Amino acid sequence: MISFPAELPAHAAVDTTRWERQWLCDGEIRTWTGATGRVLSPVCVAGPDGAPTPVDLGPVAMLDRAAALEALAAARTAWDHGRGAWPTMRVGERIERMQTFVAGMRAVREDLVRLLMLEIGKTRADSETEVDRTAIYIDDTIAALKELDRTAARFTVTGGFVGQIRRSPLGVVLCMGPFNYPLNETFTTLIPALLMGNTIVSKLPRFGQLVHLPLLPAFRDAFPRGAVNVIQGDGPTVIGPIMESGDVDCLAFIGTSRVANILKRQHPRPNRLRCITGLEAKNPAVILPSADLDAAVKECTSGALSFNGQRCTAIKLIFAHADIAEAFTAKLAAAVDALPAGMPWDKVALTPLPEPGKAAHLTALVDDAVAHGARVLAGGSSHATFFRPAVVYPVAPAARLYQEEQFGPVVPVTTFRDLGEIDQFMRTSAYGQQVALFGQDPRELATLVDALVNSVCRINLNTQCRRGPDSFPFTGRKDSAEGTLSVTDALRAFTIRTVVATTATDANQDLVGEIVTRRLSSFLSTDFLF
Ligand code: G3H
Repeated sequence: MISFPAELPAHAAVDTTRWERQWLCDGEIRTWTGATGRVLSPVCVAGPDGAPTPVDLGPVAMLDRAAALEALAAARTAWDHGRGAWPTMRVGERIERMQTFVAGMRAVREDLVRLLMLEIGKTRADSETEVDRTAIYIDDTIAALKELDRTAARFTVTGGFVGQIRRSPLGVVLCMGPFNYPLNETFTTLIPALLMGNTIVSKLPRFGQLVHLPLLPAFRDAFPRGAVNVIQGDGPTVIGPIMESGDVDCLAFIGTSRVANILKRQHPRPNRLRCITGLEAKNPAVILPSADLDAAVKECTSGALSFNGQRCTAIKLIFAHADIAEAFTAKLAAAVDALPAGMPWDKVALTPLPEPGKAAHLTALVDDAVAHGARVLAGGSSHATFFRPAVVYPVAPAARLYQEEQFGPVVPVTTFRDLGEIDQFMRTSAYGQQVALFGQDPRELATLVDALVNSVCRINLNTQCRRGPDSFPFTGRKDSAEGTLSVTDALRAFTIRTVVATTATDANQDLVGEIVTRRLSSFLSTDFLF
């Protein structure tokens, strides 16, 4: 199963008192003196009675309504109706500020890696990847903005008009990231939104909040006062008042559609609110009779169980063709059984889960599938915060695991005979993010691609579902997403196109020419960045 250590090893420990109860408001790192919560690690050590007990990572600020509204007011002031220092700063200077920030982020890499391991139980290898991938994402975003700026430096002449078209910021963006990629997914919205001139209120996720705190000095030092504000606390207490104020122009939210809908309804003028969301998914894998079963098992095991299945892109239901279902599930169960489990700093595939009560929730889903006729072919047992991944087969359409997102280490397998059954599943699913097809028959694959391409936003052939590379569009249909994120798409998502136009008369061209050559305007300008 898994064995927890007697105590935390020194090479994994972090002194969290350095950031205790800190938050960032109006350019100041403040220490909260009000109510606090405690961060409990999914990593357990021996308690006084010898039983596995979650490591206590210390107190965190639980801000109240007034503090949350103060952070919002700071962002609003920094925006200043689009006339603030940050939204009016020249692109080149904004880029320099962002480069200063990312250098500060790289300087605290080891703290970030250890906090990811301890707060959410992510392995060291995956925690390092999350931090490094995020820093590279920032570098790539800067490069994409330079490219955008070069294109925008050209004037457009059409239909007797001459105009310059640029992307302008929207205003105050409320960013809320998820626990599974607390750094990466928060920053894939926060960084492009900020770089484009918006001001930010970042509400940290309940699990994965400490990892943001070593970055507060870098935010404070790199950006103008109030441009970035970082808050923590109970969602209804701090986010309710912020949304109800009507002062949020854009909501960037990664979480559940249930919470996204609550937040959107709280805004008094929803027509003024742009939403960029990444929500649930139930990505199916389809194992066709022509599939290379060993290769499919390898991809499905990793696709369903990387970071214990806690990824929106995880494979969450496998359709195995009836002719190969027994052979496939036997190989899959053996592969899942062989996955090593341990602590995040070990070289393992499986680790403890951060959400309290998650093992009990997953057990209930498995029991429900069994009540509908399935067998548990592997795993399914739990110990403290750890749940050994369950392979459940055959999962009936009436079972909860057939439609519900489990977001954890349970691999449901069902069977099909006709390709129409896959099409039918996607038609009736509440979600529409990705699908993974495994097979070698080009005609069958082509039929499925054409059937599914208007139901999901990415079809993976003989490979698992995933978000990367970050230059690919990442989005979904129905309850899976709103808006598209990629390095370049995100710059568009957090901006609005704005035009300065005139009729192409000699007099107007002379006028615009004078503004440009005398460098009188930041917007009307042909300067560009290398
Ligand atoms: O949880 C959703 C993530 O964006 C998935 O990203 O496919 O790189 O793990 P990933």
